[in-house]
Amino acid sequence: MLSLFALLVASGFLTYLYREYVIRSQTDELVADGRAIASLVSTSLEVGSPPAVLQGILDVIRPFVGAEPWIVNRAGVVLATEPAGQSLLGVRLPRDAVDKILSGQVVTDVGTGLRAPTPSLSVAVPVVVGRTTIGAVILHRPLTGVEAVIADGRRLALTSVLLAALLSVVFATMLSRSVSRPLARLAGAARELARGGVGREVAVEGPEEVRELARAFNRASAEIARTLEEQRRLEQMRRDFVANVSHEFRAPLTSLRGFLELLLDGTIAPDEASRYLRLMRDDTERLSRLVSDLLDLSRIDSGKVVVRAEPVAAWHAVERAVAVVASRAQAAGLTLTTRVEPGLEVLADGERLQQVLLNLLDNAIAYTEPGGRVEVSAEGDGPRAVFAVADTGVGIPPQELDLIWERFHRVDRSRSRQAENTGGTGLGLAIVKELVELMGGQVGVESRPGEGSRFWFALPRTADAALGREPERSPARGAREAGGR
Ligand SMILES: Nc1ncnc2c1ncn2[C@@H]1O[C@H](COP(=O)(O)OP(=O)(O)OP(=O)(O)O)[C@@H](O)[C@H]1O
Ligand SMILES: [Mg+2]
Repeated sequence: MLSLFALLVASGFLTYLYREYVIRSQTDELVADGRAIASLVSTSLEVGSPPAVLQGILDVIRPFVGAEPWIVNRAGVVLATEPAGQSLLGVRLPRDAVDKILSGQVVTDVGTGLRAPTPSLSVAVPVVVGRTTIGAVILHRPLTGVEAVIADGRRLALTSVLLAALLSVVFATMLSRSVSRPLARLAGAARELARGGVGREVAVEGPEEVRELARAFNRASAEIARTLEEQRRLEQMRRDFVANVSHEFRAPLTSLRGFLELLLDGTIAPDEASRYLRLMRDDTERLSRLVSDLLDLSRIDSGKVVVRAEPVAAWHAVERAVAVVASRAQAAGLTLTTRVEPGLEVLADGERLQQVLLNLLDNAIAYTEPGGRVEVSAEGDGPRAVFAVADTGVGIPPQELDLIWERFHRVDRSRSRQAENTGGTGLGLAIVKELVELMGGQVGVESRPGEGSRFWFALPRTADAALGREPERSPARGAREAGGR
């Protein structure tokens, strides 16, 4: 509104300036024309030609000047006029105008000051011969013509102002729409987000600043959705974990309780008792293994497990682990062999490395039929040392290969050679993966169902070992047979 007012004021001022300009330029034009006519009529005036002659000259000139030409004598008396102005012949110009003319000046007037029959732009140009003024040429241009030009200008100015106002209104509306609509949409989406409707995207439109805002909103919205999804996933994992833990505890506890009741109420004869007591011992072992695995995992999760990085001779680690399981492998009818690259040394936590090897060996023994083979190996591979436990066991279906590293995941309980209540809980490989990664290594598995599996993990080698330094003593050269002794 204010700008409309400003535009109107400006257009009024412009019209005024324009009017001034039109009058001045038209006056100049008339003066120039007047001078031309004055020189044309000067001889006739000088020799005192009769008014008819002067009138004749005017009649010839008239169509070319766009004004009504008069000729006055030195007394200011009209001698000749336009054909319609014959009644004006003999009229005398005002005194002061005549005086000015006689002194050789051009007189201009807006209105009827120079005796114009209608309000006009008038000029009086003296006709001078030698040094004397012998008369004057007067040109009247009716103001209606001048005003028409000015009116045209004013109309133009007004139209432009209105057009400008209209355009500015249209533009303002368009702009405010293009800004306000996307902003309103953004605000709506933000409210929805606050109410918990996540993952909502808004259209990226409008001016660049608004588009940038929309993009930022979309990024934030996606980020929130991701975070919530991650939280949901973690929460689900936690719930699954608790359910799994309770489930794993229930089986051995139920069986323990059953045996205890049978023993207490005398259903089991004293000579049979030792068999049941051994089963109860297995349950108890299973429970304590479960508890220690869970404790390990929870310590790893809370970042309380600190792994050391000390040089460990590969042969030493392998021999130690093999010694622990050798009798079990033999009892299971398995051939257990080792193959360690001489002098191989890794940067690791010796105890954790034992835990990893024992877990893999446990599995190999548990999932391999009697008569099968298990080989533990270690060899250098650039800056890493690769340990592997390979068996000729049942193998793992391809679709399970990624899943077996998850907590409580077991391919199929019935596949374990061991009785259900002594079978694994599915935590072993999860611990293996965590520990190897804590030591800066990687784990992997290759397996073919029915042919066997090869679980491997890589750890950084010590710098010395990588340079090829031989250890002081190396009793583990070559393969060593542990099974079948
Ligand atoms: N050498 C192997 N051969 C065949 N399957 C294997 C082998 N090692 C692991 N698996 C499969 O991967 C699953 C997960 O192994 P993991 O060691 O985590 O659990 P587990 O041995 O069942 O129980 P836990 O080790 O906690 O006592 C096993 O249940 C088994 O199905
Ligand atoms: Mg296991």
